[in-house]
Amino acid sequence: MLIPIPWLIISKGCEIIRNMSKLYVVGTGPGSREYLTLKAIETVKSVDVIVGSTRALELFPEAAGERIELGARNVQEVLTQAIMEAASKDTAVLSTGDPGFSGTLKPLLRLREDLGVEVEVEVVPGVGSVQMCSARLLIPWDDADIVTMHGKGNSEDILKLIGNGRPTIILPNRGVGELADFLMDSGVESERRIVVCEKMSYPDERVVETSLGEVLDMEFGYMCVVVVY
Ligand SMILES: C[S@@+](CC[C@H](N)C(=O)[O-])C[C@H]1O[C@@H](n2cnc3c(N)ncnc32)[C@H](O)[C@@H]1O
Repeated sequence: MLIPIPWLIISKGCEIIRNMSKLYVVGTGPGSREYLTLKAIETVKSVDVIVGSTRALELFPEAAGERIELGARNVQEVLTQAIMEAASKDTAVLSTGDPGFSGTLKPLLRLREDLGVEVEVEVVPGVGSVQMCSARLLIPWDDADIVTMHGKGNSEDILKLIGNGRPTIILPNRGVGELADFLMDSGVESERRIVVCEKMSYPDERVVETSLGEVLDMEFGYMCVVVVY
């Protein structure tokens, strides 16, 4: 059951104005400031509390709100804090790419439900890593299949897509090597052409065209989108 947080309701003629704070879930794009939207910048500047990773917080040097760092080990605790703060103060949670794709929106909504706190949520969309990858490789997304394994584990469902003639754009679960191993163990041929888009929008961005077999001899970091052709 949701517990309503008391709203300040001011009656102005026949118009009712609700003075209610909000929880903004702000997409921060692929990482470089160039890809922030004006809406993201204005929203983050306007809030009282900003929650995000160190890297995401650095994207908003002009924002004056109280800053709360979100790290890999304190996600649940800090998101809970963000929801509670948002009951009385405008709060922004920063989410890489777009919050709605393997992003912070899903865990936040689940947590809000579990906590039973009624806080209004608004999403500020961002440029997602799938969009960036499609742009880099000139793939119209409606001609591709898009799969995320991020945080979910490898799924054999992907095998139905690979080999259907369309590129498959994948957010790997734990990295490029693990994905390549999984696909080859599942019978996809080692010669299959793939492209790895790493750290898109950063100065050290790499776009590497190779094959499933050869990618095992290469090193990639955590921020990669893989296209299997
Ligand atoms: C937690 S998910 C967030 C996805 C995000 N919500 C989005 O819309 O892109 C993190 C994964 O997104 C991908 N990713 C995010 N930013 C990236 C970038 N700049 N370059 C390559 N991959 C990126 C990587 O697969 C990374 O492991």
